[in-house]
Amino acid sequence: MCGIIGYIGEKQAAPILLQGLRKLEYRGYDSAGIVVCNPANPETQVTRFRSVGKIDTLENKVRGQEIVGTMGIAHTRWATHGGVTEENAHPHHDQSGKIFIVHNGIIENYREIKEVLGNGHTYVSQTDSEILAHLIGVHYEQMKKEGSCSDLRRAVEHALHHVRGTYGLVVMHTDYPDCLVAARMGSPLVIGVADGEQYIASDPTPMLAHTKKMVFLDDGEIAEVTRDSVQTFTLLDDRVVKCVEEVEWDEAAAQKQGFPHFMIKEIFDQPVVFEDAIRGRYDLKEGTAFLGGLNMTNDEMRRVKRVILIACGTASYAALVGKYAFERLAGIPTEVDVASEFRYRDPIVDDTTLVFGISQSGETADTIAALREAKRKGAFVRGIVNVVGSTIARETDGGTYIHAGPELAVASTKAYSNMIAILLLYALQFGRLKRVSIATGQRLLAALREIPAKMRLTLERAEEIQAVAEKYAAYKHFFFLGRGINYPVALEGSLKLKEISYIHSEAYPGGEMKHGPIALLSPDFPVFAIMTKNQLYDKMRNNIEETKARGAQVILLATDGDDHARELSDDVLYVPETMELLQPLLNTIPLQLFAYYIAAALGRDVDRPRNLAKSVTVE
Ligand code: M6R
Repeated sequence: MCGIIGYIGEKQAAPILLQGLRKLEYRGYDSAGIVVCNPANPETQVTRFRSVGKIDTLENKVRGQEIVGTMGIAHTRWATHGGVTEENAHPHHDQSGKIFIVHNGIIENYREIKEVLGNGHTYVSQTDSEILAHLIGVHYEQMKKEGSCSDLRRAVEHALHHVRGTYGLVVMHTDYPDCLVAARMGSPLVIGVADGEQYIASDPTPMLAHTKKMVFLDDGEIAEVTRDSVQTFTLLDDRVVKCVEEVEWDEAAAQKQGFPHFMIKEIFDQPVVFEDAIRGRYDLKEGTAFLGGLNMTNDEMRRVKRVILIACGTASYAALVGKYAFERLAGIPTEVDVASEFRYRDPIVDDTTLVFGISQSGETADTIAALREAKRKGAFVRGIVNVVGSTIARETDGGTYIHAGPELAVASTKAYSNMIAILLLYALQFGRLKRVSIATGQRLLAALREIPAKMRLTLERAEEIQAVAEKYAAYKHFFFLGRGINYPVALEGSLKLKEISYIHSEAYPGGEMKHGPIALLSPDFPVFAIMTKNQLYDKMRNNIEETKARGAQVILLATDGDDHARELSDDVLYVPETMELLQPLLNTIPLQLFAYYIAAALGRDVDRPRNLAKSVTVE
C-alpha cells in the first residue's frame, strides 16, 4: 500500500512528482523519495532525494535544491520489508547506479534472488525492492542490444519472469531519458495520458489535476511509456491494445477508489490484503507455518506453558479467535487480556509465558504499557502489528507484521482479519511442534488459502446485506449472539455497529441470555445471531428459539445451504463454509457490512465517528 508517481514530459518533473506524492500520502507515509533524470548533468545524470517521515520532510530537504529534468519517479512508503530508514526508502537503484525503480508490493522470493545474484552485489537497504532493481540491472546487461527503450522493457520482462510475489513497478534508466517502463502484478498501476506528457501512478489520485484520460494496466502487463506514446505488452512480449478510459472521479473519490468511504473500501480490500498476510509464511509440504520474526528456538517454543494475548478493542476480539486456535492446535492454555486491565492487575507471568501484543497502530498506549509490564516480569514478548516501525514493533523482541496496508477508517476491519490470519499461523507453527499432524496442518493451510476466494464470494452479497441493514436501520437497540468461536464474531459485530452508527448494542454468548439479558428482549430489540455450522450449532439453535419465543426479530447468519435458518428467522444472510477455526474470517464480513450500511443510511460520519480516534495513544 505504498504510493507511486512517475512523470515524463516537457515540464520540470520534480514539482509534479512532489505534488503527486502529497496526494498519495494517504497510502503510506513513513518515508518518501524522488529521483529525476537529468542528462545535462554529466556526472550523475540523476538527482535523488529521500527522507524518513512525511512528504513535508522530503519537501524541506528538496527546497532550494536544483532538481533539473523532465522525467522522474517518486514513492511514498508504507514499510513491509526493512525498517523505516532513509536507506530503505525508494527509489532504489541497481548495481550500476543507472537503473532506478519504485515498487509497491512484496517480492516473496527475494532471498532466493539475492542468492542467485551472488556476491558481486552491494545492497544498501534491507528491502526486497532493491534486490529487484539489481535483478533488472543484471538482465539489462545481458540483453541490451538496440540501445532503445525496448531493451529496458525486455530486461524488466525477463527479470519479472524470476519473481514470485506482487508488484506495481516503474523503472527508469539514466541512459534513456525518453522512456519509463511500468509493470503490474497484483498491485495497481495506472498511466495518465496527456498531450506530449504521461504520468504513471498507483492510483488515479495524483494525476487527476493533469489528465482524466487513463490506461489501467492489468496483472501481467508491462508498458513502455514515452512522451508521445504508451505501448503495452504481456510479460511474454505480446502486444496488448488497451483502451484509454475517461475517469470522472474527483480526488477524494479516487483515494477511496470509487467507494464512498474508506471503511467500505477497506472491507472490500480484505481478500487482497489477506493474501499479503499469509504469502510466503507457510510450508504446504510440511503442513506448517514459519513466522521467522518469532525469534524463538524450537526448544524455547516447546517450553512455552502459557500464551497471553494482549490487545484493545477490535484487536482483542481477533485475539479471542486466536485463543481458540492456540488451544485447539497447540494445546497451550491461552488467555486474552484487555491491555488496560492487564497492566494494573499485577499479572502472573514468567519465562515460560509467551505474550503477544496485538495492535493495528502499534501505538496504543495501554497495549504498550501492558507489554512493558510483561517484559519486566520475564515473559517472551512479541508483537503482531500493522504499522511498521511503530512503538510495539520496536519494543518487542520479535513478532510479525500483518501487512494489511494503511487502515484509514477509525473502525478497524481489514486489520482484524489479518490479525486472525497471523494468530492462526502462529498457532499452527506451535501446534506442529506438539500435537498437530502433517495432514491436519496441510488441511488447515489448504482451507486458509481458499479464504480470499470465499471472502470475495461473501462480498459479492453486499447488496443483500445492505437491504437487510436498511430494513433495521431505525431500531435503537441490538443484540449480537454467538457461541464458541462465533462469540468473538458477535462481539466484533456489536462493536462495529455501536462505534459508527451510535446504536446501542450488546453482545453475548447465546447460552448466557437466560441468565439475565433475555429480560431486555422485545419486538423493538432485534437479535443478530451467528449460527454457522460448528460444534455448538444445535445449542445455538435452541438459544435462537428462546429469543424468538420472546417476540424478538431475528436476523441469522448461517452457512450456505442451511435451510433451517429460514424457519427460525425473519431475515437470513448466508456465508460460505470453511473449517470451524477459520469461519470468523468469513462471518465477520457481513457484520462489518451490516454496521456500515446502517451507519451510512443514518448519515453518520462513517470514517470519523464521534469521540473516537484511530490511534489511542493516551491512557
Ligand atoms: O491500533 P490498535 O489495534 O491497538 O487499536 C485498538 C483499538 O483501539 C481499536 O481496535 C478500536 O477498538 C477500533 N476503533 C475498533 O474499530
